[in-house]
Amino acid sequence: SRRRFTVALRSDVSVTPTRILTNLKHECATPLPLLQQVAKAMSDDMRAGLGLGPGSELGLPMIPTYVENLPTGNEKGLFYALDLGGTNFRVLRVQLGGKDERVIATEFDQVSIPQDLMFATSQELFDFIASGLAKFASKEDGRFHISKGRKREIGFTFSFPVKQTSIDSGILIKWTKGFAVSGTAGRDVVACLNEAMERQRIDMRVSALVNDTVGTLAGAEYWDNDVVAAVILGTGTNACYVEQISAIPKLQGYASSSGKMIISTEWGAFSNSLPLTEFDREMDAASINPGEQIFEKTISGMYLGEIVRRVLLKMTEEGGLFGKSVPQELSTPFILGTPDLCTMQQDCSGDLHAVGSLLYDIAGVESNLSERKTVLEVCETIVKRGGSLAGAGIVGILEKMEEDQRGLIFGNGNRSVVAIDGGLYENYPQYRAYLQSSVKELLGIEKSKNVVIEHTKDGSGIGASLLAASNSIYKQNL
Ligand code: GLC
Repeated sequence: SRRRFTVALRSDVSVTPTRILTNLKHECATPLPLLQQVAKAMSDDMRAGLGLGPGSELGLPMIPTYVENLPTGNEKGLFYALDLGGTNFRVLRVQLGGKDERVIATEFDQVSIPQDLMFATSQELFDFIASGLAKFASKEDGRFHISKGRKREIGFTFSFPVKQTSIDSGILIKWTKGFAVSGTAGRDVVACLNEAMERQRIDMRVSALVNDTVGTLAGAEYWDNDVVAAVILGTGTNACYVEQISAIPKLQGYASSSGKMIISTEWGAFSNSLPLTEFDREMDAASINPGEQIFEKTISGMYLGEIVRRVLLKMTEEGGLFGKSVPQELSTPFILGTPDLCTMQQDCSGDLHAVGSLLYDIAGVESNLSERKTVLEVCETIVKRGGSLAGAGIVGILEKMEEDQRGLIFGNGNRSVVAIDGGLYENYPQYRAYLQSSVKELLGIEKSKNVVIEHTKDGSGIGASLLAASNSIYKQNL
């Protein structure tokens, strides 16, 4: 019994949930100097990734997108967009009417990607996409019409790291966000889609292959010429921005028509100077892409819930949170989603009723008020770190642009818009607030006046169709 006493004493005193929480807060803290360091490291890694030769592999992927011209508003005709990138697959059609009429009609369809397709073969995945497209295309109504003799053209938003070789082709470098489809890496994803469309006898043509960030930038720019960068904060995360060709050494010798190109940073791969914890390291080690996408794993929607689950599991196992037994559910990876954290954080009731019932429904645990408060503090800590670091990333991009062209971003009276989309940003008010205050804190009052952070809802689909339009094979009519 003496021994039992010691064990009980140890678990009560040394690893109480409070102690774990205090440690967590300490390790996840994002004071200004740390955020400044992250922003600076982001700029440095961007610059390194644009470079040629030794050292460039240490930087970010910084993928040239071959998008040199953003939409002008003159785009006309019927265009389709396909969007594959996270939990949902979308198809969209849009009738563009040119300068005066702009978007005449749009229609879209969305299906969630069955879990097993994320582990299927390339052919199975692309057949699924093509059949979704075929079904959607067969329901085209009278509001949409194609000029005689034209083929329907598609902007294909494919939101994974792709080594683009032109505006309408690109090789998948690797899957991210939990996808592990076999046989696609190393292949041109447009060719994969074309083959699947042939199998389904769909007579359409992919005119633009774009990342979701690029679609968002194009979609936002269509309405607002001051947009300089776009960010996705959803299942995964990435950012793109407009770069000067002369500042892209790895495109040396490329004959550009405009002198500019959108670069997709693939900042999810960033990892420098991040405040990481044992929970992050363990989640990374257990992931299908260990050592990769560390920034993404720290700030994006796919992972925030899972980090919190890991903290709560430790608190339960070692600190006796929720009583003596560890519920099986809490040991199940990804059982707690980021939307669950968000639901809990919106609970303003005195007894944190919603927190209690969510914990009961999802993890099968009964909780008292103090335990619910602890859970909320864990959510708060992880979400604050995520939002603040995302803000630091944005400032890193703006500062890189400003360093290369003084006055471009923070110049007198300039307005520099950062377009953001994605479920995490859209639906999680606390995350959004932390992101915004981190940007403000880093920029200071004066520079903040120039920067506008804007939510661009579903801009990526329209953006992809606009890019299909501006890269149409029937350019003469644009
Ligand atoms: C992942 C992908 C990237 C995409 C981002 C947001 O990071 O690698 O291409 O833009 O998720 O969807």
